Amino acid sequence: MTDRFEGRIALLTGAASGMGRATSLHLAREGATVVGLDVNGEGLEETASLVAEAGGRFAGRLVDVRHRQECHDAVAATVAEHGRLDILGNIAGVARSHHFTDVTEAEYDLIMGVNIDGMFWLCQAAIPAIIESSGTIINIASNAGLMGQAYTVAYCASKGAVVNFTRALAMEYVKQNVRINAIAPGGVNTPMTTGFDLPEGIDYKLMTPYVGYRDMADPEHIANIFAFLASDEAANVHGAIWSADNGLVAG
Ligand SMILES: NC(=O)c1ccc[n+]([C@@H]2O[C@H](COP(=O)([O-])OP(=O)(O)OC[C@H]3O[C@@H](n4cnc5c(N)ncnc54)[C@H](O)[C@@H]3O)[C@@H](O)[C@H]2O)c1
Repeated sequence: MTDRFEGRIALLTGAASGMGRATSLHLAREGATVVGLDVNGEGLEETASLVAEAGGRFAGRLVDVRHRQECHDAVAATVAEHGRLDILGNIAGVARSHHFTDVTEAEYDLIMGVNIDGMFWLCQAAIPAIIESSGTIINIASNAGLMGQAYTVAYCASKGAVVNFTRALAMEYVKQNVRINAIAPGGVNTPMTTGFDLPEGIDYKLMTPYVGYRDMADPEHIANIFAFLASDEAANVHGAIWSADNGLVAG
């Protein structure tokens, strides 16, 4: 392990589980102080123990990213406590599968609220501090933001929004010394996929393009890419949607 992130402050959402936890551990092992946001307090405590065991620094904060004020307060508190913010990772997400006509307003609002609204408000709150530190923003999109997937129309819509939100933000700040990118994972072994329920009566043939030909990734694979993109080694990567999907969107 290197000390690539020594002295840097990272704010990561979804830090209680899956890729958010793996990324918290990875960045902390390389020297970052990580502030982890999530709605799952127990999960945040587990992440805090894992980071502490690895000798790193992590503080959890209960935040529901769907709410603009909570996002702005979390960024303000982080900057007030640490004096800077170098890395914002928008990792929190929810996925649900439905027949299109069965999507309720509550499910739609949840998917959009967590997957795109939260990222939007956190980026808005964080961008002045990120510019100040010549820092970086990394959003987690999905192969579902780059291809159409049956039975996950709301999720695909939210991740498509993440893709073009990332590009638009990259263009607005192209003259500032910041880097803004997204990672688009394919299937990853996390609680999101192990607990994924498909509705009754679906046509499985429509699902085959999203299964692909290789195994699913582990959250650490995505954490590795996150760390690379957050590091100075990725100095000219800006406005990219970095696929990590074992070839899913190539075919
Ligand atoms: N697992 C996959 O196959 C896969 C593939 C492509 C993209 N993704 C995306 O990767 C990201 C991470 O997913 P994961 O697989 O690690 O899932 P996960 O379920 O393990 O973790 C998601 C985290 O987001 C948190 N969260 C949910 N609602 C929240 C809210 N309102 N406010 C704050 N936090 C909230 C959850 O509590 C959880 O800790 C998500 O954006 C997901 O859409 C996942």
